[in-house]
Amino acid sequence: MSRKDDKEADAFESDQASEAQIAVHWREEGYYSPSAKFIGQANASDPSINERFSEKNFPECFKEYADLLTWDKYWHTTLDTSNAPFWKWFVGGRLNASYNCVDRHLATDRNKAAIIWVPEPEDEDTEVLTYQELYVRVNEFAALLKGFCGVEIGDVATFHMPMVPDLPIAMLACARLGVIHSQVFGGFSGSACGGRIADSKSKILVTIDGYYRNGELQDHKVKADEAIARALEEGVTVEKVLVFRRNPGEYASKSPMVPGRDFFVDEIMPDYKGKLVDPVSMPAEAPLFIMYSSGTTGKPKGCQHSTGGYLAYVTGTSKYYQDIHPEDTYWCAADIGWITGHSYIVYGPLALGTTTVMYEGVPTYPDAGRMWRIAERLGVTTFHTAPTTIRTLRKLGPDEPAKYNYHFKHMTTVGEPIEPEVWRWYYDVVGKGEAVIVDTWWQTENGGFLGSTLPALNPMKPGSCGPAVIGIFPKILDENGDEVIAGSGRAGNICIRNPWPGIFQTIWGDPDRFVKTYYEKYNRDPKSTDWHDWPYFANDGAMQAADGYYRILGRVDDVINVSGHRLGTKELESAALMVDEVAEAAAVPVVDEVRGHAVEIYIAVKPGVNAEGVADKVSRMIESEIGKIARPKNVWIVADMPKTRSGKIMRRVIASISNFTDVGDITTLANPDVVTDIRHFVESEKVARGEQPRDLSAAEMESIVNFGSEG
Ligand code: PRX
Repeated sequence: MSRKDDKEADAFESDQASEAQIAVHWREEGYYSPSAKFIGQANASDPSINERFSEKNFPECFKEYADLLTWDKYWHTTLDTSNAPFWKWFVGGRLNASYNCVDRHLATDRNKAAIIWVPEPEDEDTEVLTYQELYVRVNEFAALLKGFCGVEIGDVATFHMPMVPDLPIAMLACARLGVIHSQVFGGFSGSACGGRIADSKSKILVTIDGYYRNGELQDHKVKADEAIARALEEGVTVEKVLVFRRNPGEYASKSPMVPGRDFFVDEIMPDYKGKLVDPVSMPAEAPLFIMYSSGTTGKPKGCQHSTGGYLAYVTGTSKYYQDIHPEDTYWCAADIGWITGHSYIVYGPLALGTTTVMYEGVPTYPDAGRMWRIAERLGVTTFHTAPTTIRTLRKLGPDEPAKYNYHFKHMTTVGEPIEPEVWRWYYDVVGKGEAVIVDTWWQTENGGFLGSTLPALNPMKPGSCGPAVIGIFPKILDENGDEVIAGSGRAGNICIRNPWPGIFQTIWGDPDRFVKTYYEKYNRDPKSTDWHDWPYFANDGAMQAADGYYRILGRVDDVINVSGHRLGTKELESAALMVDEVAEAAAVPVVDEVRGHAVEIYIAVKPGVNAEGVADKVSRMIESEIGKIARPKNVWIVADMPKTRSGKIMRRVIASISNFTDVGDITTLANPDVVTDIRHFVESEKVARGEQPRDLSAAEMESIVNFGSEG
């Protein structure tokens, strides 16, 4: 680095506020307005909604959400804070989630499509489950769980299921019986599933022999054997494994069925055909399910969600933020193995009696037009996906949407910050300039949305999720607990000051960790029963613009510290994406003797694009958008990024490569093969450029191996 650069870096640093405040260099984007057509039909078009959900009406405002449900017994206390921060919502109320999502729609909508399932092989027929059919199948599976497995209220059943209709059926069957379900993402390894079985002490595993992914029938049952072995190592014995079959009459797995333990569902089902099971009236605060959050380090956290509060929250937010109407065809292309799928494929949409679409496979199979063919064929009105999918589709099929005759009125982006460039492609090309977009910020722990524009009432701003959703009152705090004010251009830790019905109840089996991770940091008095003393620490960095809109920067550990200057990976990546040729970008720290860390950028270019000169363009763009301090030490052009099965770039892995250190466990990667290719390329280039491996100190090592969330 030249002297001049050094000086500029120093000048930059002296501008710094406290270490807690992450400087933010995003440019302010212009607003986009929802169309009159959208506003005309929206569920929330009356601005009085903001008043109804204002702080002075908290917590009673959430009665409006709870009243969307059918209760067996009305509650007497909306919010009980006596055991803070273990909040209880709608206390005294009783209801059944399965009844609310299925039975209550029969009177008016018995033969309306509840779930439309699209198999991955394009020559296989789409399957339509009407509300009546869903009712029958949920009852039958509930009867089987009760009769064959002997489950009881409060037991936990683990599912390791891909995107097939048996998954929501099994979830709703558990809910019908008061059994807690714990669905583990189908793409996770057997061992990851086993760890979760052991943690939840599940005696039952529901799985399938195989499923299609990228044109291939995967052997999935083999993972059940690994899962059970791992659970056993941790002292938990699974008594029964229920195995669905993807293709009737065939068995897609090489793994033998273990007599007395493994059972094909289709073989035991005849005894339960046509059986009905009464929905069990559950207390509002009874747990409905556990969803393990995919953390970076440490043991996964089993987020325990309630029946009444959770269902009320996802139903209310589905109505107002997803703008779901019963007559919509709603497609959330997430996986039910994630919280997004639980809340916004299954529980929210079905509670509202709409038609929800499920797709088995990968978005680009057999080509980048697949999603849009599905949308066209089913007449999808409402579409929901994650930035990673949007980036992939933009990379592989930038012109595909225009070839298909579908028209979305509403689209969602969820799960990570979306770069303004990518947002604009989503808006212009996927949404054809007609669809309103909500960028929804929330977490597995939260049950439902925390930040989003109200689609008819607030203008959109690319890259910002918008204001807090109704009934949510955030504030951004620095490390000292002082508020970082809106419009200051500074970021800090975003917290939610109040409880809300969708917030998880605890970490399964670990209440101390629950308090410590989410509440201890800003708690004023551990004995207090006043919710005002218990801000929820989201573990996300954020900044608030003068207009009140939040920009979420990602988990607080997704920050690269260059000479004490905290640069958000997202802002670096967003700058890189402003270069036309760039499809995907990932920023990682590399240990640097002078600056502590420097930035390295990994780039994937759009297909057919000449990568010549792109690295320079990226460097220059980052320099002009953020500053010299952020200029990457190296920009690596790679064919593909290592990604989790949920599509998030595994920055920890490329950070290890950039630092010549061991990449650690990569078994949960969707594409572990790319790691070796990238390592060969980057290490040989580095050596050619005169960089040598050196031993890292423990602290340096820590900063690399724990870098970034794997979400
Ligand atoms: O860092 C935030 C990011 O994803 C994290 C939550 O991940 P997970 O629990 O897997 O839930 C994903 C589905 C809700 C958050 O802590 N995140 C989520 N949504 C957004 C986001 N970052 C920016 N913008 C979003 N819209």
